[in-house]
Amino acid sequence: MNMNEWQVICRVDDIPVLGARRVARSRGMDVAVFRNAEDQVFALLDRCPHKGGPLSQGIVFGTSVACPLHNWTIGLADGCAQAPDEGCTPRFACKVEAGQVLLDPRELATVGLDLAPPRAGPCASRGAVGDGTFEAQAPHTA
Ligand code: FES
Repeated sequence: MNMNEWQVICRVDDIPVLGARRVARSRGMDVAVFRNAEDQVFALLDRCPHKGGPLSQGIVFGTSVACPLHNWTIGLADGCAQAPDEGCTPRFACKVEAGQVLLDPRELATVGLDLAPPRAGPCASRGAVGDGTFEAQAPHTA
């Protein structure tokens, strides 16, 4: 694969409005790709900066997502918690061309590899990550 090229992940329409899809990586935790009401698309590590909750299962509103575990608000553009909460989760460059969502394969291969999934509790790992495929999340309602 030419590492200078963006990688097609899915179509915008494949992501539920106000929801997310997860992108598995060969190393590291999944990446969550979010779609908001304006069809803007954002990509963050699927790990809340608080205690590692699965942001892909949160509710998207505006340009933020509410973590499903303790309801912190995380900015989709920068991955950072809204004050007074603190902390950021890694973000991934993401663009849309002709209705397709593209991520940077160099970032997928390198960003956030040091962040481990929680080992216990409701946000514990679902097991080994896959082979680059992604799976749909159930649509969310606001
Ligand atoms: S783990 Fe996300 S708010 Fe606590």
